[in-house]
Amino acid sequence: MGAATGPAAPFRFADLRRGGEDARPELLAGLRDARASIPPKYFYDELGSRLFAAICCLPEYALTRSEARILADHGSDIARAAGRGRLLIDLGAGDCGKAAGLFALLQPAGYVALDISADYLRDALGRLQQRFPDLPMTGVAIDFTRSLDLPQDLLAPAGAPRLWFYPGSSIGNFPPDAARGFLARIARACSATSPGGALLIGVDLVKDKAVLDAAYDDALGVTAAFNLNVLNHVNRLLPADFDVADWRHVAFFDAAASRIEMHLEARREVSVQLAGQPRRFAAGERIHTEDSWKWTPAGFAALLEEAGLPRQRLWQDAEGGFALFLAEP
Ligand code: AVJ
Repeated sequence: MGAATGPAAPFRFADLRRGGEDARPELLAGLRDARASIPPKYFYDELGSRLFAAICCLPEYALTRSEARILADHGSDIARAAGRGRLLIDLGAGDCGKAAGLFALLQPAGYVALDISADYLRDALGRLQQRFPDLPMTGVAIDFTRSLDLPQDLLAPAGAPRLWFYPGSSIGNFPPDAARGFLARIARACSATSPGGALLIGVDLVKDKAVLDAAYDDALGVTAAFNLNVLNHVNRLLPADFDVADWRHVAFFDAAASRIEMHLEARREVSVQLAGQPRRFAAGERIHTEDSWKWTPAGFAALLEEAGLPRQRLWQDAEGGFALFLAEP
């Protein structure tokens, strides 16, 4: 029986999250702080992952389209530079759409999808395996911002050189020092194998403030829903009793700091039970939910070099809004 007509090979799946053990203390510390915050990884429950996929379709959010455009316009050049037949390791795979778009170009030997949102990832991989029945696939539910130490048996096939894929400017969630540290971990992972690995990474670039403000505060209110939905996720995780109707979405580009800030602002005085303990928020008080750093091409090239990834290629879209780097130790 031909493989293409047979049943899809069952993909492997591992859940390496430590769940509530990790989430509860981290969330409580952030929310009890005088300057309250929630780490942005908590956006991505099932609905949050869907809302993020919707954000990527918004007219104001050009980021995803710019990156796809670069891959479409420079695909064969990128594939030549990155190398075909590699093990493609997708950091924050989401719906796996970006990686799937690369399969024809990169002809990977295998696909390993990492994401914090386990059920969403499992569903996405199930659909993808149907479309690509012959490609070995592995899903790993993991908070890879904590650790990139993956059990080696999950990184199959073992002999293939590795291409780490970190698209969509997710690196922008890290402040520069932490970004350098995270990239250094990828650099070490690239050096740990023979042949050595490489990193293909997308980064959103500094641009006009009005354009960036609109990208994070769209007319339809999808980004507002995405931001507010983190409270529903926190309600389940702690538990807590946030009412999204008490909060308003705030997002703006801080040009001096070169980052988008997102907050939830209390519409009125609010009292919330956080795992059984009350926390009062004054009217107008904010919970900081996300920073999204924007880079210049030169600034990001320097960051990669400092992280131990000095050999680089760079592709950009015609508008200069987004950059795709291939970087190696
Ligand atoms: C997934 C972190 C790249 O910062 O643009 C989109 C998340 N937040 N709209 C970004 C996000 C609000 C996104 N990243």
